[in-house]
Parts: sequence; structure tokens; C-alpha cells
Amino acid sequence: MTHRERRQATLDLADEELRALFGSVAELAEREIRATRDGPVFAEPPSTERLAPVLSDCNEVPQDGEPLPELLDACAQVLGAGRRSAPGFFGYVFSPPSPVGVAADMLAAAADQNVTAWRSAPAATQVERTAIRWLGQLVGFADPPAGMLVSGGSAANLMALVIALAARAEPDMDRRLLTVYVSAETHFSIAKAASVLGVSLRRIGVDRARRLDVAALDKAIADDCGAGLQPLCVVGTAGTTATGAVDRLDALADVAGGRGLWLHVDGAYGALAAAAPSVRPLFAGLERANSLSLDPHKWLYVPVACGALLLRDSVAAANAFGSGADDYVRVLGQGEVESFAFWEHGLELSRPFRALKVWMTLRHYGARRIAATIAEDIAVAAHLAECVRADEQLELLAGPSLSICCFRHVPPELPETELDGHNERLLEAVQRDGRVYLSNATVEGRLALRACITNFRTTKAVAERTVAIVRELGGRMVAAESR
Ligand SMILES: Cc1ncc(COP(=O)(O)O)c(C=O)c1O
Repeated sequence: MTHRERRQATLDLADEELRALFGSVAELAEREIRATRDGPVFAEPPSTERLAPVLSDCNEVPQDGEPLPELLDACAQVLGAGRRSAPGFFGYVFSPPSPVGVAADMLAAAADQNVTAWRSAPAATQVERTAIRWLGQLVGFADPPAGMLVSGGSAANLMALVIALAARAEPDMDRRLLTVYVSAETHFSIAKAASVLGVSLRRIGVDRARRLDVAALDKAIADDCGAGLQPLCVVGTAGTTATGAVDRLDALADVAGGRGLWLHVDGAYGALAAAAPSVRPLFAGLERANSLSLDPHKWLYVPVACGALLLRDSVAAANAFGSGADDYVRVLGQGEVESFAFWEHGLELSRPFRALKVWMTLRHYGARRIAATIAEDIAVAAHLAECVRADEQLELLAGPSLSICCFRHVPPELPETELDGHNERLLEAVQRDGRVYLSNATVEGRLALRACITNFRTTKAVAERTVAIVRELGGRMVAAESR
């Protein structure tokens, strides 16, 4: 065998094999999309016993390879044992990807652009900068904003605090005195980011709509200044994870601006809803934030992982991340476009071509259709709330706000003290049942069954079926417990 033949016999595939592989993969991907479209959430109730045979041969690293048809069969089993974001999946904040987003990710993998800088990935870098500009336009943030795509809201929130620190604190300040203000409903990724950075976190209470209490915020900042702390940043939320509340962003901008603090808005779940004219007024003040997190993998229907950090001021990110690159990545280009390097504006060096799925999604569907789809998700949540209100054995605990509806089963047989335990068992029963999927939230100390609708396939009929399933399983549990 010549050296050339030996190299060809290593990892590459002959043209016919390549075509056969991608034919099979396309078929499998199509089957997966159809299964996600039709449901159920789980083909069979999930359990470790169910997964054991699927993964039985996986204890040792394979020394010799196996043929592709067998391997694809094994893949099909793994996919088939997974959770599908079917129309009845209302847990956490998950949306199914549109088929166009899936196709984009397959193409991005094939092209394998490492989107570090224009120097090494010129077209992909420009596509990403375009995608960032479009995201800003969609939600009414700065035009053009600075920023970049990241793995998700957690990464965007961490980067926002790093940038706030560089912008508003001297390098030699005692970090424990620097204080970040959040509400009791703020996502835990902000607390995690504060802990990573070693800055303090102050939790402010919420009003009756579960929005950050602005008067309490103002007082806490004044008190902290008096006590020698150094207020750094206010974090508002545009769509809380538990109930979908949107903080009063204009009022937060007044407080933060008046005191020279950074305003970050965590819109990982909700900010993309600002694209929908019917709810746009809720987001008034968003454009005044210094930084904004939003997640295309939540409400732009692209596959995970894709979050975004948008910034009003491009210099701020460069101040935080733009020094000290090694010589081997030194920027060689001239001018703003050709010398642009993402590593000067964020944490990562190697980065995937996330932008292709955002760019293809927005080009294919257009902003108007995306906005209408988001508005329809919100309408389905409102319908679910109506169904809950109409049922005397269900109680609406919050909302609906944006596309989240929190409720619980209140059978007349059970006293208030037993309702949390009953609803927790009911939640587990719903998840194991697999026809629909809810997750939980705590609303004013009570355990809620929480439905978040970010699924372009979910209809009002599915919301009605969800209520029927909760009643069916809840009723069955009450009957079994009273026997
Ligand atoms: C408001 C909010 N912020 C941040 C996050 C974290 O986002 P990710 O899971 O993309 O890291 C979430 C996740 O649901 C969220 O709802």
C-alpha cells in the first residue's frame, strides 16, 4: 500500500459510502423531526432499565470500529429513547427546532468553520455579525448592536457581568464590595456568574406581578452606598423563568442610569417576544440596557446551543476581553471588518458556526412570520389559562405572562397542607406518563405545575388535552390515596 492509499484508508469514506451515509442520516433526521411533530414526548416511559439495553455495549472504548449500518441502528435507538419536544412538551424553556434550523446545523457541521475571527473564517464571521444585527432589530435593541452568539443564556449572563465589571469598577477594587442587584425571581445563572467573579449579590423582593420592586431596589442601593458597598450592576429580567414576568425595564433604566450602574437585561427566555407587536409595550426600556441576553434556541426555534449577548457599546466588550492574545492569532487584516476577532469581545477562542441557523431561520421565515408564531405561542398559553380557570378542580397560580401558565390540582378531598405533596406526585406521574410534559415552579410558596409554550406546533387542542390528562391522572391519584 502506498502512503497515499494508507492515508485514504484511514478516516475518509469513498464517494458511494459518503452518499449512502448522508442518505441514511437524512432519513434518520427526517424521522426524528416527524416524531417530534407527532409526539409523544417519550416513546416509552423513561427509566434506567429502559436505557440499559440501548447502551449495553458502551462500557469499554471500542478498539475496532463497526460498520455504519449497525452504528446508525444504534443511533436510532438512542434517539428513540430520548425526550422529544413534541407539541405537548411544556417543561422548562424548550422549543423544538424548525426543520430549517436543523438543516443549518448539519451544514454548519459539514463546513466546520471555527468562527474565531474574520482572518480564519471570513464569511462565517460576517454572517454572525449580520445575525447579531438582525436579533437587535427584532427586539428593538441598539441598531447595530455589538455582541456575539454563545452557548446560551448562562454564558451570555456571565459575559455580561464580566463586561460590567470592566466598565464600572477599577481593577484593584475589593470585589466583595461590588454588588449586583437581582430580584427574587432572577435566573440562577446570574448568582452563579456573581459567584464565579467573586462579587456580591443582593436579592430584591418582587411586586404582586412578580416583577423586581423598583422602589425597594432604589432604597437598597442607597442603603448599600451608605454602608460602604459599591453598587455595580442592576439585572432586570425580560421574562422570568418561573412565571414569565417582565420587569419594569424603563424604571430599572432610570435607577441604574441615575446612579451610574450597568443595566443588564436577562431576556434569555422572553426577550424575543418583543418581536411580537401585541406584547412589545411590555419591553419598553429594553433599548436602554447596556447589555441584553437572549436565546435563539429558546424562542427563535433553532436547535441548541445558541444564545446571544447584545451590547449597546462595542468598546465595553473589548475592554473586558481584548488584551493579551497570543501571537499565533494576531490580527493581520486592515479595517474594522477584516481585523475583527471574536476573541477580543468574548470568552471563547474556538467557536462553532452558530450563526448559520439564525441567519437561515430569519431568511427563510422572515421576522413577520417568526413574530406571528411567538404571538401564537402566547395565545395558546392564554387558552390554557382559560381552561384552568374553567375547571373547578384546578387553580391558576400565576399568569399567564408571556407564554407561561402556572396552575395546580386542587381536589376538594385534600386540605391546603397536602396540596404541594399531591401536586409534586402528580407532576412526576405526568412526566412518567409521557403524553405531555410539565415542569414545576414555586409561586408564593406553593408548588405549581408550570407550562411554558415555545412550540410552533402546539395548538389550543393540545392545551385542552393537557388539562384533561392532569385531571385524569390527578383524579386517579386521589382515588388511589383514599382507598
Ligand atoms: C431567564 C433565563 N435566564 C437564563 C437561562 C439560562 O439559559 P441557558 O439554559 O441557555 O444557559 C434561562 C433558562 O431557562 C432563563 O429562563
